[in-house]
Amino acid sequence: MTQIIHSVSDLQKWSMEQKRQGKTVGLVPTMGFLHEGHLSLIDTAHAQGADAVAVSIFVNPTQFGPNEDFDRYPRDFEHDRILCEQHGADVIFAPEVNDMYPAAVTCWVQEEEISKGLCGKTRPIHFRGVTTVVTKLFNAALPDLAVFGQKDAQQAAIIKRMVRDLNFPIRIIVSPIVREADGLAMSSRNKYLSADERQRALTLSRSLREAKEALENGTRTDALAECDVIRQKLTASGGVVDYVEALDPETMLPVTSGSQRPVLFALACAYGTTRLIDNMKVD
Ligand code: PAF
Repeated sequence: MTQIIHSVSDLQKWSMEQKRQGKTVGLVPTMGFLHEGHLSLIDTAHAQGADAVAVSIFVNPTQFGPNEDFDRYPRDFEHDRILCEQHGADVIFAPEVNDMYPAAVTCWVQEEEISKGLCGKTRPIHFRGVTTVVTKLFNAALPDLAVFGQKDAQQAAIIKRMVRDLNFPIRIIVSPIVREADGLAMSSRNKYLSADERQRALTLSRSLREAKEALENGTRTDALAECDVIRQKLTASGGVVDYVEALDPETMLPVTSGSQRPVLFALACAYGTTRLIDNMKVD
């Protein structure tokens, strides 16, 4: 039976009790509206040794810009609860905004390098909101390990950096992207797509896969030129490209021309009013 906890202090008590019993505590931070991608994070937490798993479900207002989709972000707590139960989560942490932010925030946790590029360019306050709320979730759940999805590659890299730089005693695990059968990366925001937009949005994963194949089999050799190829395909499919970049998968900094090292292609592109992200590593 999955227990539902609403307050920070109750979650801290739960976590300390698990540890007193010698259990390893895992945290899976989410904003709810769970799909297979999130569920794979819960499974990963178990597989990586968490004996007690808490899933947080909190649509965090501080990571949404003023013209973003905070109000219309999809929510379905009862469905989420059933899925957490099915995947053996011990606790759902579902605080109200007032529990997490009882007063106006005047302290922030901010990563200042990786956060600047990619999504940080068009979403200037987003990662500050993420690192702040993840710190608060860490302080609430006191986890030994926490699992994040590779779909948000920049977020995962920022959280790893935060944990390293601020000495959180927490093991960060990054779990692979889960895709629909046709290749679309799972995302709660896919719900916003019309049938036609969803079809055109397949260009994200298809163009990434084609770039990966071309570079890995040697048909093409320049990762930076490949970004232009991807950009053209996205534009031709009716997408409005925010960015397509070739990055060092460790530092998330842009690769230089002619680099022979593994590359992570990361992109953001909108169809209608829905902005999607995706990424793929090329070895
Ligand atoms: O990836 C998400 O869903 C959110 O950014 C997170 C990590 C739960 C913080 O609100």
